[in-house]
Amino acid sequence: MIPPIFLLILLLKTVNSVDFTIQEATIDEIQSAFKQNKLTSKDLVEIYIREVRKLNPIYRAVIELNPDAVRQAEKADQERKDKARKSRLTRLHGIPVLLKDNIATKDKLNTTAGSYALLKSVVPRDAGVVKKLRESGAIILGKASLSEWANYRSSNAPSGWNARAKQAVNPYVATLDPCGSSTGSAISVAANMVTVSLGTETDGSILCPSSSNSVVGIKPTLGLTSRAGVIPITPKQDTVGPMGRTVTDAVYVLDVIAGFDKYDAVATRKASKYVPKGGYLKHLNAGGLKGKRLGIMRAYPYFGFANDTEILNMFEKHFDILRHNGAILVENLEIINLNQIISSMFNGEDIAFSAEFKLALNEYLKELVASPVRSLADVIAFNKKYADLEKIEEYPQDLFLAAEKTNGIGKLEKEALLNMTKASKYGFEKLMYDNKLDALVTPYSHGSSVLAIGGYPGISVPAGYDKNGGPYGICFGGLKGAEPTLIEIAYGFEQATKFRKPPSIKNQF
Ligand SMILES: *[C@@H]1O[C@H](CO)[C@@H](O)[C@H](O)[C@H]1NC(C)=O
Ligand SMILES: *[C@@H]1O[C@H](CO)[C@@H](O)[C@H](O)[C@H]1NC(C)=O
Ligand SMILES: *[C@@H]1O[C@H](CO)[C@@H](O)[C@H](O)[C@H]1NC(C)=O
Repeated sequence: MIPPIFLLILLLKTVNSVDFTIQEATIDEIQSAFKQNKLTSKDLVEIYIREVRKLNPIYRAVIELNPDAVRQAEKADQERKDKARKSRLTRLHGIPVLLKDNIATKDKLNTTAGSYALLKSVVPRDAGVVKKLRESGAIILGKASLSEWANYRSSNAPSGWNARAKQAVNPYVATLDPCGSSTGSAISVAANMVTVSLGTETDGSILCPSSSNSVVGIKPTLGLTSRAGVIPITPKQDTVGPMGRTVTDAVYVLDVIAGFDKYDAVATRKASKYVPKGGYLKHLNAGGLKGKRLGIMRAYPYFGFANDTEILNMFEKHFDILRHNGAILVENLEIINLNQIISSMFNGEDIAFSAEFKLALNEYLKELVASPVRSLADVIAFNKKYADLEKIEEYPQDLFLAAEKTNGIGKLEKEALLNMTKASKYGFEKLMYDNKLDALVTPYSHGSSVLAIGGYPGISVPAGYDKNGGPYGICFGGLKGAEPTLIEIAYGFEQATKFRKPPSIKNQF
């Protein structure tokens, strides 16, 4: 049998002499194939479903496929024929999207954070970002796998493991950490199992898997995208963001999901002032690096390259590329009291997360229309009862147990939060203002904690492959609301380099 994907290419080739292939297909290419009647949304969804069926037994990037995806695609195809609607269609109309399994959908899909404890729970409504995606005409293809509970159950569990989908696999090098917690969101996009996806991040969970699986990931400013209907860790740091194979594709998604949501009113109202008039697309500017001041800390951990000569050598050519494209590199930066700032960051996260997680999770569970578990205590009991299924012996639920012991935001938690605010103010913000930086450049996702604790945005762009074929990214982080500038920088870098290559299944099997 000819694999369906080649059949489609053949078919398209015979009908039309223009090449359209699903491998690395961008949203612009897909939309233009739609417009020229070379492809329907239904074709596209069916191709991706076949790819998922073929690749998922290896990669375990998808937990569930949406049984209504084909029907939704047919509806999108109908809408495209309607002349009155045509002018109003968004770039995401008819485009399949995978959602990390902690993002609620009010449909046949389960929302479980990878845990059996939440199987058959019924959510009150679509997550705020899902509502916006549906309004844009995007197709919900299914749910992506993740580190269980977004990596907040066990400090021992490997990245990308959850009880329902088991261990996700890096498509470039099977032995390489696929990173989490938005593991499946990154792998599925990297391996061409879907066009784009959504991930979530509390500290590193979008930026790290994007770097490790060679995709573009945007971790937005806190509150720029709604967290309503997202299984939480902490409202102080949780954020939802897109992943794509190109900066443009990720920005198309950001454009749709950013903005106010009455179910996450305080944070989204505050951040909606950052959404530029007319959206983000005008910032996809190939000359975007020109005149940008980029900070590089060669010597320091967490903010930079940590004196790691191997990594520094790998990135010297990237620094040259940035310079050749008009960026001004500001090097040899220093931060006073760096060690104290770093210890404040990690201490603070440890203390504050634990208390905030219990409050936020209990609130989420209480809101469910139906659920086998109604509190963190119930989840802990469920895990004990189904210890084999949830691998409790191997991956103990230590973070859950610690959180259950907490009792709200008391004196200690307030102090920890204040320490984190101070660390941001006298660390990252001071560095950015004092040096008039547009972005701080870090390798892989090394800067993610700095961005996480202050609610700052970051974009990871593929930056190459190491000697073993392992992907790595470069991360551009900025102050709150800096997305337009970061998009210009990321797009400028991507257009100058085009490092991304699809994984080859032959690499490892
Ligand atoms: C949701 O979970 C239930 C219970 O396991 C299952 O029967 C159903 O098929 C799941 N939904 C999807 C879309 O896979
Ligand atoms: C990094 O290396 C330089 C030169 O070897 C050294 O002076 C500096 O102290 C190192 N920085 C750190 C943070 O280790
Ligand atoms: C806050 O920072 C101070 C000064 O570094 C430190 O002594 C204290 O232990 C920190 N508090 C918490 C709760 O982390």
